[in-house]
Amino acid sequence: MAKDSPSFKCTSCNARTTKWAGRCESCGAWNTIVEDTGLSVSGPSKQGMGGRRGKMLELTDLKSMAEAPPRTEAGVAELDRVLGGGLVHASAVLLGGDPGIGKSTLLLQAAARFARNGLKVIYVTGEESAAQVQLRAQRLGLADSPVLLASESNLRDILTTLEAEKPDLAIIDSIQTVWIDTIESPPGSVSQVRASAHELVNMAKRRGISTILVGHVTKEGALAGPRVVEHMVDTVLYFEGERGHQFRILRAVKNRFGPADEIGVFEMTGRGLAEVKNPSALFLSERGKPTPGSAVFAGIEGTRPILCEIQALVSPAPQGQSRRAVVGWDGSRLSMLLAVLESRAGVSFAGLDVYLNVAGGLRVTEPGADLAVAAALMSARENHPLGGQTVFFGEISLSGGGASGDSDGKQVERSAKTWFHQRILAPHGQTQRGAGHRAGRSR
Ligand code: TYD
Ligand code: MG
Repeated sequence: MAKDSPSFKCTSCNARTTKWAGRCESCGAWNTIVEDTGLSVSGPSKQGMGGRRGKMLELTDLKSMAEAPPRTEAGVAELDRVLGGGLVHASAVLLGGDPGIGKSTLLLQAAARFARNGLKVIYVTGEESAAQVQLRAQRLGLADSPVLLASESNLRDILTTLEAEKPDLAIIDSIQTVWIDTIESPPGSVSQVRASAHELVNMAKRRGISTILVGHVTKEGALAGPRVVEHMVDTVLYFEGERGHQFRILRAVKNRFGPADEIGVFEMTGRGLAEVKNPSALFLSERGKPTPGSAVFAGIEGTRPILCEIQALVSPAPQGQSRRAVVGWDGSRLSMLLAVLESRAGVSFAGLDVYLNVAGGLRVTEPGADLAVAAALMSARENHPLGGQTVFFGEISLSGGGASGDSDGKQVERSAKTWFHQRILAPHGQTQRGAGHRAGRSR
């Protein structure tokens, strides 16, 4: 039988090739091509387990519940909430994010908090020297926290150290620098990242060491980055933010011990990350007197309502094509809305440049922002400011009606009312009746 020609597979898009390449030709991802040996022709049956019996498993029912796993709070509300109420003992957490977004800063601050709360914390850095981390700790005023520090990237040495020291929490910054000597590929490659994460997560479960792995999001988004590790860990957090803006959002996208989609908001200051207890105030902070083109959107992130300002600018287009530019929202969604306004409401934006911006650098993904965007657009076009006490939310369908299906509607309404009212309109406790009424759906 002719020997099969070698086969390689992209771990990102599953495309097959006959030769190895640094970059996948079909999806463009880097370092994702791995050799794919496939199944042997004769099938696995030849390698069967033979006649030897295994041991009988102990079966249990669904009722008898194990106790909830113990947790430790960091004492940073924005972090604890995202973790689902504190760090779970022996859990594996992945913290992903763009390089430079503040992952190391956040974890150093968290490490100091956990250490102060009685956990034995080891921070292993493979990215920076110990001196660099110490320097950062000094800058953050954390130099005297009882955090143990090591600068290492050899997994064998890291595991040996963790086995001997038996910390409660180990932070590995970052998984892309860790390497196993039994794998040929360089650190940061898919096989290295996958294998070292597997070993570390195993260790976490076996020895009862909570482990936080840092993963950089690579340029193409997914590969050899945090995605490779997501399925192995209990909790996946992403740290997001726009460059040039101070605020950072910590988002739980998977959590075996709490709700996913919860967010924590931080602000990057000269002395590290500070909690933002009232994000709406931050996102609305630059908002002065109501101006034409400005509308407040009431969205919901996790269990909290978030208010933010949507800004629109409409100006006559100098002959030729009119421009549409969007920051913080979906460009094609804007085109759709403009079409709906034109064909269902008879409001034309032809011959006009349209600019849309979500203030504060926030990225809004909820379809519920349609109404706020439409309101901002109309307000800009008519040069007429909207009421300063109005918040908008609601999806707009292609027929021009409000799309149904927002079961959260009532909750948003209630929470947005209280928040807008208490924190924005009357932050010092004065009450104003009737503030923050909900704008009607455009039907
Ligand atoms: P860092 O935590 O090193 O990012 P990551 O680990 O995600 O790559 O943070 C890097 C940025 O944060 C850097 O550009 C400087 C900024 N920074 C501050 O603004 N204030 C601070 O107190 C610290 C420590 C960092
Ligand atoms: Mg870092």
